[in-house]
This record gives sequence, structure tokens and C-alpha cells, in this order.
Amino acid sequence: MNQRPTILLNPGPVTLTQRVRKSLMQEDMCHREDDFAALMLDIKSRLAKVYSEAEKRFEAVTITGSGTCAVEAMIDSFATRDSTTLVLSNGVYGERIAAMLAMHGRPFRELRSDWRDPIALDSVRAALANDPGIRQVVAVHNETTSGRLNDLTSLLDLCTEFDADLMLDAVSSFGAEWIDFSHPRLMAVASTGNKCLHGIVGIAFVMVRKTLFEQRASNADSLYLDLFRYHTVQTEGFSPFTPAVHACFALQEALRELEDQGGWQARRQRYLQLSERLRRKLSELGVPAYLKADVYSSMISSFKLPEGWGYKNLHDALRRSGFVIYAGQGGLYREMFRICTMGDIQDQDMLRLLMAMETLICGRSKQ
Ligand SMILES: Cc1ncc(COP(=O)(O)O)c(C=O)c1O
Repeated sequence: MNQRPTILLNPGPVTLTQRVRKSLMQEDMCHREDDFAALMLDIKSRLAKVYSEAEKRFEAVTITGSGTCAVEAMIDSFATRDSTTLVLSNGVYGERIAAMLAMHGRPFRELRSDWRDPIALDSVRAALANDPGIRQVVAVHNETTSGRLNDLTSLLDLCTEFDADLMLDAVSSFGAEWIDFSHPRLMAVASTGNKCLHGIVGIAFVMVRKTLFEQRASNADSLYLDLFRYHTVQTEGFSPFTPAVHACFALQEALRELEDQGGWQARRQRYLQLSERLRRKLSELGVPAYLKADVYSSMISSFKLPEGWGYKNLHDALRRSGFVIYAGQGGLYREMFRICTMGDIQDQDMLRLLMAMETLICGRSKQ
């Protein structure tokens, strides 16, 4: 079987397509020149078109950094000082948002659930009903810690009922899961170029409801993370600081490729096809999914570690076969591992992975 180099099965950075990889070889470009401005305006316009409902209502503001940078910029710019932000956490990334609010000195309350559990909607309702000072809610859409896709529709409904706005960490879902950009309570959505969009690390972005820039002042206490500053300069395609120019090349090509392949819906279907094949086969091999099958996002799966295997042994054995899998975070390291189908994963790659896992788990080459 024709073997490709290492296949990344971690949730970003992803295995690049040849098309995106080649885009990195363009002529060097200065970010103060008009050709860069044209590139940036094209990226902003393509990001706004990934979800058709977003185009009219939202502006994509890009920032140089990883997903955390976009999430923190969203929090710093929009979490107010005179009202409370409710953070809903059921994994590492929700807890990280609470840490950001604490560091930026914003009034907040965290409703923390176990990393294996869904967000407790009854508790969200009670918190919103009992504290009219809560004006914003923040949640993670696809909690990468477990692979659970949190229930965005119910959260938006609760926001409507209690007159609150939602900020969303969609770092691992933008481009491959449905996000209701038509919902009037959706305020801002943070994501990155190097996960479901298949670009490289270095450019992240926040989809911001346009009226926020017109009606509000920035809350930022950081120079670099102030999205209002980016919004002003990016209107002309420029950037207040030196942007990751090569990451912009890659993201532009990745967005073109996404469009050519049928948009986020087609990408979701492709991820799902691979994930279902993976979950089915591992279940047959006696490696059950860590959560109930119907709660997963289309591309992140978590599995119980097979009998007799620690994460490191499993990782190292698969690495020798050309695959990088991903550990459980924190205490989950000893219980589970994750496999993500983002990026340029072809049917043959999946077949080879499943054969390698069967060989290992059935003990024929356990070392
Ligand atoms: C849901 C979610 N939020 C935030 C982040 C942080 O992104 P980064 O590691 O790119 O800073 C990640 C990373 O995997 C994530 O999955």
C-alpha cells in the first residue's frame, strides 16, 4: 500500500493537503503593501461566507496567534466589567475561558461540569433566572477534551429567554459543524485557521456581530488582544501588528479548497464518514468509545484505552506505523485516548490505521 508520511490524528495542527502546502511557496510579501491588503480582505470575505447566514451580520476579525489567542481576544474585548459573564465548562477549554476572565478581572461565574458530562442545562437556566446581572454566556462548542459537541441550540434558546448574549469558542468546530449565525443572541465566535479549515497555525479569527463595533466601546485591557483595534485597521485590509503572512497564504488556499469541496456541510459529512468507520471498527476490536456514541462531534472521538495498554505504549506503537494519536488531558491520560479525522485523511490512511490497530490490539505485534 502506498504509504504517506506521518498522518496527524490530533485535533490540529492538521495533515495539510498538497494544495495548501504548495500555497506556502508563494512570493514573499510585505504586510504594508496593497497585495497583502487584497489577500486579507479576501480571507475576511471568505471566512464570512463559510456560513451563509454569517455574511450579512458578522465580520471576521483576524489575529496572529493560535486558537487561544482568538478566544482571549474575544473575552478581553467583549466581556464587560459592569455585568456578569456566565462560563459553562465541561472540559479543559471551558475552564481555560474561566481562567481568562479571572486574569482580566471581569465579573464571572463558572458552572463547571465533569469532563465526561454535558453542560447541565437545568443549572444554566437556574443561574440565569436567579442572577439578572448575567448578561453574557460563554461556552465551548466542540469540547475537544472529550469530543463532545455541546448543545448550541439549547444554549441559544436559554439566552433568548433570559435576554443574554452568547460568546462561543468554536476553535474545533468552525468549518465542519453547524453554527446558527442567524440567531440574534449569538454575539461572537472564536476560531482558528488550522483545525477544521485545514490551514496552518498562526492565524486565528473572531466572527463578531457587526453591530457590536457600532454600538459598544472596547473592554480590552490588552493592546494586542483588542479586536476593536484590528477591526478599524482591517477595514482596509491592513493589520496593526505584523501578521503571519504565510499562514494567510495557507488560509486563503484552504478556504478556496473548502468551497471547491462543497463547504462546511460536505466537510462535516467527510469527517463523519471517517469517524463512523473508526468508531465501528474499534468497537469491534473491544475498544469502546469513551462517551455515548451520539454525543460526539463529526471529527473528534475518544476511546477507552484497550486492556493492557497505557497511552504511551499505544502512541509509540502507532507512531512507528506513521500515525500520531492524541492523549487524554489531565486525569484522563490514564483512561482514554483521542483520534481526530480533521485534515487530509484519505480512505487508505484510515484503512492502514485500522489494520495497524487491529494488529496491535489483537496482540500480534504487542511490544
Ligand atoms: C475547543 C478549543 N478551544 C481552544 C483551543 C486552544 O487552541 P490553541 O491550542 O490553538 O491555542 C483548542 C485547542 O485544541 C480547542 O480545541
